[in-house]
Amino acid sequence: MRTVIIGGTGHVGTYLVPRLVEAGHEVICVSRQLREAYQSHPAWQAVTQVQIDRSLAEEKNLFGEQIRELKPDVVIDMICFTQASAMHLVNALRGQIQHFLHCGTIWVHGPSVEVPTKETQIRKPFGEYGVNKAAIEAYLLKEARLSGFPATVLHPGHIVGPGWVPLNPTGNFNPEVFKKLAKGEKVLLPNIGMETVHHVHADDVAQAFMQALNHWNSSVGESFHVVSPAALTLRGYAEAMAVWFGQPARLDYLAWEEWKTTVSEEDATATWDHIAHSPNCSISKAQRLLGYEPRYRSLEAVQESVKWQIDNNGLLG
Ligand SMILES: NC(=O)c1ccc[n+]([C@@H]2O[C@H](COP(=O)([O-])OP(=O)(O)OC[C@H]3O[C@@H](n4cnc5c(N)ncnc54)[C@H](OP(=O)(O)O)[C@@H]3O)[C@@H](O)[C@H]2O)c1
Repeated sequence: MRTVIIGGTGHVGTYLVPRLVEAGHEVICVSRQLREAYQSHPAWQAVTQVQIDRSLAEEKNLFGEQIRELKPDVVIDMICFTQASAMHLVNALRGQIQHFLHCGTIWVHGPSVEVPTKETQIRKPFGEYGVNKAAIEAYLLKEARLSGFPATVLHPGHIVGPGWVPLNPTGNFNPEVFKKLAKGEKVLLPNIGMETVHHVHADDVAQAFMQALNHWNSSVGESFHVVSPAALTLRGYAEAMAVWFGQPARLDYLAWEEWKTTVSEEDATATWDHIAHSPNCSISKAQRLLGYEPRYRSLEAVQESVKWQIDNNGLLG
């Protein structure tokens, strides 16, 4: 298979590209070449790197044609954020490729109804990002089912891995929260700490993409949650991390309106986005149809990532 991955040097690509190479794919990675994967791997030597700025190419209506000219059998689109962008690519690739995999997000769901949320839950997304991703999902699945365009949509949770700071137990990305827990200092949680977050290790996301490729029959025309086996409550997450640091958890709670004034606007915005969604997604469909079996539970993924931050970025220094 000649496989083009658009945006292959990020969180997921760091793990997916080596897996593709090891599985015998001829891999072409499209990016602006502003960055490299989070971890080096010998497999990258076998990867052809193509420099394209998608936004600029789309402005000139050239992006789809540029991808088609790479003559892929498979296209993995990691960085599509609008339906217009998806349509442009699909129109260029229709009839030309065997499999198209789009990276979505669990933000296609609004507030949960019955948890863990299944893929069949009626979409009521909120926020521009989730609304656009839900529109892309609906568009791609319709194209697959009505026109035979071979699309699969994979929806990761909060992606975690060594090299970047994971979503913390207050629902934002401020590394100070981990520091406080490590020092046994008090951490304030919004409300009663029972809202949820749902992480996934980047390598498990990569596994799901490989499994979708390996199960073409059951993955085309379908979307799948790609998360760890279970979501965490903020409170449980904070307590478990404190234990991991060898400290008692000193937690306090404040109603949202007060809590948000205790942190920066950026952190408050991130926390609100996460607790308003409070994701708790089921992986049973991916397990059943793709054979997806995540290697990491949420805490294991986060702890590996925090350990990396301690060892390499002086998180506790
Ligand atoms: N992060 C999360 O927690 C999370 C959760 C759920 C879903 N997702 C979904 O995951 C996808 C992103 O995957 P990721 O987190 O692995 O990616 P990422 O870490 O954000 O990396 C982005 C990749 O795209 C390339 N890129 C960015 N802008 C580009 C442009 N204009 N033209 C060409 N290449 C460009 C980057 O390389 P250059 O910078 O060198 O171009 C890099 O290879 C998105 O669809 C997002 O909705 C993410």
